[in-house]
Amino acid sequence: MFLTEVARSATFRLGLRMASAFLVTALLLLAFIYWQTAVHETRRIDAFLTAEAAAVAQESPHHILAEVRQRIAIDLHRVNILALFGPDLRPIEGNLTAMPRGLPADGQAHPVVASLQAPPGTAAPPAPGEADRPPVVEQTVRAVARRLPDGTILVIGRNVDELARLRDTVLRALTLGLLPVLLMSVGAAAVLSIRMLGHIRRVNDAIRGIRQGDLRGRIPLRGAGDDIDQLTISVNGMLDEIERLVYEVRGVGDNIAHDLRTPLARLRVRLERARDGDTSADALRAVLAKAVTDLDQTEAIITALLRISEIEDGQRRAAFRRVSLQAICSEVYQLYLPVAEMRELSFQLETPGDAFVVGDAELLTEAVANLVDNATKFVPDGGTVMLALDADRSPPRIRVRDDGPGIPAAERAAVLRRFYRGDKSRHIKGSGLGLSLVQAIARLHGYTLRIEDARPGCEFTLFCGPEPAGAATGTAADRHAAAGAKTPPADAPWPVITGG
Ligand SMILES: Nc1ncnc2c1ncn2[C@@H]1O[C@H](COP(=O)(O)OP(=O)(O)OP(=O)(O)O)[C@@H](O)[C@H]1O
Ligand SMILES: [Mg+2]
Repeated sequence: MFLTEVARSATFRLGLRMASAFLVTALLLLAFIYWQTAVHETRRIDAFLTAEAAAVAQESPHHILAEVRQRIAIDLHRVNILALFGPDLRPIEGNLTAMPRGLPADGQAHPVVASLQAPPGTAAPPAPGEADRPPVVEQTVRAVARRLPDGTILVIGRNVDELARLRDTVLRALTLGLLPVLLMSVGAAAVLSIRMLGHIRRVNDAIRGIRQGDLRGRIPLRGAGDDIDQLTISVNGMLDEIERLVYEVRGVGDNIAHDLRTPLARLRVRLERARDGDTSADALRAVLAKAVTDLDQTEAIITALLRISEIEDGQRRAAFRRVSLQAICSEVYQLYLPVAEMRELSFQLETPGDAFVVGDAELLTEAVANLVDNATKFVPDGGTVMLALDADRSPPRIRVRDDGPGIPAAERAAVLRRFYRGDKSRHIKGSGLGLSLVQAIARLHGYTLRIEDARPGCEFTLFCGPEPAGAATGTAADRHAAAGAKTPPADAPWPVITGG
């Protein structure tokens, strides 16, 4: 069962495929070596022998005889074959005891088995009764026979036993070497796939746990830092996002129920009292007016929720156009100027240059308006609110700063959740959906929203692009000080356009 699992695993199959590729390569190499040693070398010897026979044949019979004798005398190892036979094939001179069988006298090289006189001291002792016969050894040779003008036959040859032995050794070494390498490849593939199977089993266990409802479960990393780990990190990132969304949806369900129940319960009590009491027409009208206000609040919550869902759907990307961030900031500034004036706020707009992005102008205006709405809402009477566009930064960024109560570091992530309202601001009207909307709009555009301490108050930065690395260090106040801001935010460091 386990073996079948290993054999069917992708790693094992990959290992086998690589072993097969190696085998084919080794066989090709083998073929090449065989060709080099056997074919090529034999051809070379044949050409040499043919030329040699032709050259010797030019000499006079007397010279040929002397040459044969001389060459035999110096070739102690019998590597060369040289012999002269009479027209009746009887040996006249040379180191062959007889004309090799099947060797035609055509001047071409042929493979033959030749009977040679053994070099002194190499042959076995002669059998009893054969003492007068010279010792003979048989060898595989390449030989050329050529009939000379006087009818005699010249045989020139070369012992190719060495060549054959060398070729056999190479073939045997490669064949014997291949087997262990093949076995090792299959073994390595099996070990790798067993290790991989162990990891896959752990991944499967983790996935099973997640499917059974453990949303906090994550796929284990192998720790090798390889592409599989990269994939695991991506999948775990996706699971983080799914977990966040699932908990958010659960929380949203509870919060919707809670937030809608309050105005509806209030409405019900009012209507019941009006129905049961002895109420005048004017009092009834007042109850109805309050009832409409309660219904408006309920409708506002539902509208805001539907709007967030619509934005998160991502459909609105189709309507993206080139948008001027300066125009958006100016529009929001003009929109909130009356509110700021009413609350006697110092409301400043700093847009020294313009920057253009591709996005949804209406949504971006809504996002900036929500940030300014919060600032003007939570800052105490007479406080300062600043709306700035850093057009020359990359990416451009819109900042909204106030010197109000600020948001404690521990609450900065929470305020982005739907319906979350800080303790300090519960007494101020709102349903805790504004920043969720801003966050949804930022995500739709691929922007980042950051909340920082402005000492006093807080600063919201909307990066119109991915947040650059290193941008999140220090507080907003620190960065302004480092950038050479002469006065702290409360002392109006952005005096470009001031209202209120
Ligand atoms: N500029 C700010 N200063 C202090 N606290 C803030 C500021 N902006 C947001 N907050 C805190 O974050 C919470 C969530 O803000 P959000 O805009 O989502 O909701 P809201 O303003 O209370 O209601 P809504 O925007 O739906 O009318 C606020 O209730 C408040 O506690
Ligand atoms: Mg708000």
